[in-house]
Amino acid sequence: MIQRSSSQSNIIQAEVLKTLMDSRGRRAAIGKISSSTGLSRKAIKEAIEELRSSGIHIDSRKGYEIASLPHSIPAPLFLSGLKSRVIGREVYSYKTIGSTNETARRMAESGAPEGTIVLSDRQTQGRGRLGRSWHSPAGLGLYFSLILRPRIPFDKVPALSLVAALSVCRVTDRLAGLDSMIKWPNDCLIGSRKMAGILVEVSAELDRLSYAILGIGININHREKDFPSELRSMATSIAIEAGRSIDRVGFLQKLIYEFEKSYNNFTRYGLRLMGPELVERSTIINRDITVRVGKKKISGRAVGLDQNGALRMLTEDGARIISAGEVSLRG
Ligand code: BTN
Repeated sequence: MIQRSSSQSNIIQAEVLKTLMDSRGRRAAIGKISSSTGLSRKAIKEAIEELRSSGIHIDSRKGYEIASLPHSIPAPLFLSGLKSRVIGREVYSYKTIGSTNETARRMAESGAPEGTIVLSDRQTQGRGRLGRSWHSPAGLGLYFSLILRPRIPFDKVPALSLVAALSVCRVTDRLAGLDSMIKWPNDCLIGSRKMAGILVEVSAELDRLSYAILGIGININHREKDFPSELRSMATSIAIEAGRSIDRVGFLQKLIYEFEKSYNNFTRYGLRLMGPELVERSTIINRDITVRVGKKKISGRAVGLDQNGALRMLTEDGARIISAGEVSLRG
């Protein structure tokens, strides 16, 4: 099932839903919904029917009340508390999809606008970096891709991963009281275990970016047993670390708002304002590391990031700038 949302009717659904969410646990009379939204009774009844068909159970005895929300994230539910202006305003929400990056790429090729979000409750072919897969079980994580069309030169693309990773860490810490870290170039860790990964795929002409697909996968409510055994020692979720479950919709809404602020900041000023926090949250800066770049291995000390988000290293052969690679810590 796909849910597309940005049309007038979906904006109306989002408003009705917001009123129902605000009065959860109580019944909302249609007159009250009408006075708080300014919508006619007819428009409210139509919106309620649409919301029901997106999987939200709404009781209608003596007023309206949300009885239960589905596992998946219906587009109007996501839009109902979203504060961003551009990012996430055009929503495509699926129950099951191969890969949100792949669907977003096809949409970008056919002209989907900046900020379009493709999200899915479950992925059957979630992609990770370096040809790996991303475990994407239903109802537990957040799996989504954003279509971005920033006017930046190609060599600034790696910085997008860092901007997104920083947003994920900030929202995680704020909502769950944790201290999350960034493992350059694209992982979010809590302690030494990975809780989120980012995959940026791009299309470029000459050295100019046409679009970037920013794919983010976050382990939100997984328990240990939800991970395949081979991942258990390396992966964690926000719920495992916080000791309680996390509202996925609220998390996503806050993340999109946070990312929009950081992304706007990045397109205007580059990484300048985020630099110190990126260094502070880095698991590798000021450590001895080995980076695998293709078949080559480069060893040395990670000393910082350049203005494009590339890693600055000091090696026996002198200073090096590495724009992508797989890092392991030495010693
Ligand atoms: C990594 O750490 O290797 C990157 C993982 C990226 C996973 C996300 S989930 C949503 C989006 N769709 C995909 O197929 N992959 C990314």
